Amino acid sequence: MKRRVLDHPILGHKTDHREEIEFFFEGEKLKAYPDDTIASALIANGIDIFGFSSSGKPRGLFCAIGKCSSCLVEVNGIPNIRACITPVKNGIKVKRQKGKGKPTW
Ligand code: FES
Repeated sequence: MKRRVLDHPILGHKTDHREEIEFFFEGEKLKAYPDDTIASALIANGIDIFGFSSSGKPRGLFCAIGKCSSCLVEVNGIPNIRACITPVKNGIKVKRQKGKGKPTW
């Protein structure tokens, strides 16, 4: 994970020995911590673009509290999952969403 803050000017150096889990983003296997959200895990892995608007503009983390829908992703085939408030789970398959996402019913 590329973007973890392990050496902070105020909090000091942090040795991180927590257990890691694995999930998939666009078919690529990535690591996360069990208490990550999907968004925090993606950002820790250097991924800022979570999807695209219907006009093709990149989307990613914006409010980070589940209110704006900028971070919508597809998880295990289910669209419109808010990455910023959804916990990452071992083995889930996350994909970038384009536009509004189609309901599965
Ligand atoms: S970033 Fe706003 S809902 Fe996720």
